[in-house]
Amino acid sequence: MGKRALLVGALVLLGACDPDTVVHKVGWFATMRHQRNIKPYARPIPPVAGAVPTAGGELPVTRETADHLVNPRTRTAESLNRGQAVYQTFCLVCHGERGQGNGPVSMAGGGPFPGVPSLVDPARPHMSDGAIYGMIVEAQRMGRGIMPRYGDKIHGTDRWDVVNYVRSLQLLARGGGGGGGGNQ
Ligand code: HEC
Repeated sequence: MGKRALLVGALVLLGACDPDTVVHKVGWFATMRHQRNIKPYARPIPPVAGAVPTAGGELPVTRETADHLVNPRTRTAESLNRGQAVYQTFCLVCHGERGQGNGPVSMAGGGPFPGVPSLVDPARPHMSDGAIYGMIVEAQRMGRGIMPRYGDKIHGTDRWDVVNYVRSLQLLARGGGGGGGGNQ
């Protein structure tokens, strides 16, 4: 009985011998395991001091910094068309087609999402372009934490194009044309 258990144990051990985990232990086999590289789970090498990120690095938008941001996108038809497409993809569900806070997901529109404000109500405090940008990028930090974050989904000039489009919706609500895009 004891011998048999030993045999079974030895077989199990042998079975566990995957050449990849064994061969490199024998010094004179040349394996790719022994080379100067970062091992899995090893701490990555930090970037050289003064290195500038070429992608992905950006300063966080905060309530303090948002108002100082300068909108780099002129309100051209191209910008408004792009802004409209992005707005209809991400914002319309809550804020509604015309920004009145009555999108299909909002309570005003018969949905479950509470507290969706109108973006075109002149009675609400005026927001700078930078503040609207801040809500688009970092609503969790800029607002009261109710609106989801879109900074990870909307990138580059698209963000400012949405700002421009929101502005055009405000003009539209005041009866001043604007709107941009074809199907207003
Ligand atoms: C899931 C629903 C939802 C979506 C989608 C959404 N929002 Fe909001 N939004 C809210 C809510 C709720 C608030 C109030 C947030 C708060 O007070 O924290 C808000 C607030 C805002 C405000 C501040 C308005 C004010 O007068 O205080 C702006 C600007 C805004 N949203 C723009 C956008 C834009 C642009 C998009 C698309 C990128 C968007 N939102 C997508 C729910 C949403």
